[in-house]
Amino acid sequence: MNFEDQLRTIFVAEHEIPEAFRLEGELHQREYLSNGALHPWAGDVHTVVSPVCIKGPDGLKPKVIGTYPLCDEKEAMEALDAAVAAYDNGRGEWPTMSVAGRISHVEKFTNRILEKKNEVVKLLMWEIGKSYADSVKEFDRTVEYIYATIDALKDLDRQSSRFSIEQGIVAQIRRSPLGVVLCMGPFNYPLNETFTTLIPALIMGNTLLFKPPKHGTLLHYPLLEAFRDCFPKGVVNTIYGRGNKIIPGLMKSGKINVLTLIGSSKVANELKKLHPKINRLRAILGLDAKNAAIITAKADLKLAVQESVLGSLSFNGQRCTALKIIFIHASLADEFLKQLSEAVAGLKYGMPWVDGVALTPLPEPQKPAYLKACIDDAVAHGAKVVNEHGGTALASFVYPAIVYPVNKDMKLYTEEQFGPVIPVVPFHDLEETIEYLIESTHGQQVSIFSNDEEEVAALIDPLVNQVSRVNINCQCQRGPDVFPFTGRKDSAEGTLSVVDALRSFSIRSLVATKLNDSNKQLINEIIDSNSSNFLSTKFIF
Ligand code: G3H
Repeated sequence: MNFEDQLRTIFVAEHEIPEAFRLEGELHQREYLSNGALHPWAGDVHTVVSPVCIKGPDGLKPKVIGTYPLCDEKEAMEALDAAVAAYDNGRGEWPTMSVAGRISHVEKFTNRILEKKNEVVKLLMWEIGKSYADSVKEFDRTVEYIYATIDALKDLDRQSSRFSIEQGIVAQIRRSPLGVVLCMGPFNYPLNETFTTLIPALIMGNTLLFKPPKHGTLLHYPLLEAFRDCFPKGVVNTIYGRGNKIIPGLMKSGKINVLTLIGSSKVANELKKLHPKINRLRAILGLDAKNAAIITAKADLKLAVQESVLGSLSFNGQRCTALKIIFIHASLADEFLKQLSEAVAGLKYGMPWVDGVALTPLPEPQKPAYLKACIDDAVAHGAKVVNEHGGTALASFVYPAIVYPVNKDMKLYTEEQFGPVIPVVPFHDLEETIEYLIESTHGQQVSIFSNDEEEVAALIDPLVNQVSRVNINCQCQRGPDVFPFTGRKDSAEGTLSVVDALRSFSIRSLVATKLNDSNKQLINEIIDSNSSNFLSTKFIF
């Protein structure tokens, strides 16, 4: 059997889908959440096609799993008006609510979404082809993130529940919301990464317009009722439709105070420029990355291979933190490529429900052709695909390709492939790797593989000023979620971690007065009467 025929065997007929993972019919979303209500939608819809193709008498057919509304500028503007009204210039119920009050709403919401876990996990698998294990992990990690956010906010609030006295001035310093937040998440972590911006933005008292990613929209549908029931009207509004049609008007309105987007720097740049008063716009962005691994002559090769496989191929390489280029010391290149090829050959490939599966079909329809173009371009410039079957594609599935030797003339040297292609570059002098990072337009993370302390130290110092996280003897990653997640150059704006996100979506505000008897009495009266949510010494336990 040739390899393409072998690949065909991973796809199954409808009746062969294991019962536990079958969708009960198609899911046709015909409503959207705006201004506290689920509004019926009778207009155009987007057809959601799963990356999981189904085997039939005429070959492989993409499986339609449902549809969702393709709303227009009109609905987007109505949602914006609802968010603006709910914020009410900072005087709305939500932005003025006590921190404890907001926390209790988010807790209620979390309990409600936990009831939807199975539905969301199944949709994650079908919409973006994520394995069952990773889909469960994504859901659980999101819930843990919400709990950690609540704990972090309690800590922040406890620190702010006291007064500071300096030079005869007494002040209470807290954090206040920023206004209306436009929140857009990516397809690769459509739940988790969206919620790592949406939840902190929400809990800090902002009101939201939330646009789910193009691939990964339906999985948010089961959560809409919880959003509607757990927050005051207009606090969370969903918008659907073609981004290039509905987003520009929102930005041009000048009523968006914060843009938070996990996506491409190109889109982020274009959107920011549309805001009429750029100085009023905050941006919290997680953008492109081309994280490099640098494997020196003094590395533990076995470990470097293990981590390179994880780093470059987890979720088929579709992570912003993925290792997207590997620099290997020329003296180790042959052995590294041999071991890497063996490790890749050992990965299980198949449908998302297969136990232990590592490689699954890709959700972006144009991705197989793009990856092929990258590989062809590298081959045309003198590289080879060094692993058996590397780059073989069938329908939505692409078998990983290890491409060597990659050089400056190839797309794979600079472009973020965001898929299962591993470009490997040989080097002789570590200076070449530092130069690569200096010249790169990205600056998220790097992985160094070496056991020599002098060598590692000599790389750490220049590299911490090029990227935002230097990983030693391990792959790049975002987690643990309490660590800062950011990047330099075109890779990010602002910092996300459980604690940093609370800061990113708020601004410090203080109430201050001269410490004299009449002011002391005034402040004490406000505190004793509990008449202000801001000026208060209440302690959250
Ligand atoms: O796509 C980027 C994600 O934030 C990656 O998260 O490194 O924990 O997989 P991760």
